[in-house]
Amino acid sequence: WRILVVNGPNLNMLGLREAHLYGALTLEDVEQLCRQRAEGLGASLAFMQSNHEGVLVDRIQQAREDADLVIINPAAYTHTSVAIRDALLAADKPVIEVHISNIHKREPFRHHSYVSDIAVGQVVGLGVAGYGYAIEAGVAYLNAQQQ
Ligand code: DQA
Repeated sequence: WRILVVNGPNLNMLGLREAHLYGALTLEDVEQLCRQRAEGLGASLAFMQSNHEGVLVDRIQQAREDADLVIINPAAYTHTSVAIRDALLAADKPVIEVHISNIHKREPFRHHSYVSDIAVGQVVGLGVAGYGYAIEAGVAYLNAQQQ
């Protein structure tokens, strides 16, 4: 399977920003974790981050051609971006939404996600390990769909 992991704005600052919420690991560490998990499951991995909504939209659209599953932490765009939601719908691939922190126990404006109702599921509040769980769950989902 071909897995695309998409990371939204400010996630390039992982390990530096608000470590009490997001932990000490960097985005590079997260990429490594994802690569190991995907490889262990025989899947290939593309991993990207951007601070720019349009760049994220462009990459998500490409998933229509080059991915079987999209794992996305849209970061702040989770709560604002109809464009990212529409790109995910256009890509027409199963989506798993990841948040490092538990958005439901934070400010009310983080409680709504434009992605949740079009996702297969969410991994929320379990730290960066959530990316690994999402990969495992995503591969299990794809395998089940194939049967
Ligand atoms: C986040 C939660 C968002 O509310 C926030 O804007 C982020 C990160 C998370 O992974 O917990 O940047 O998506």
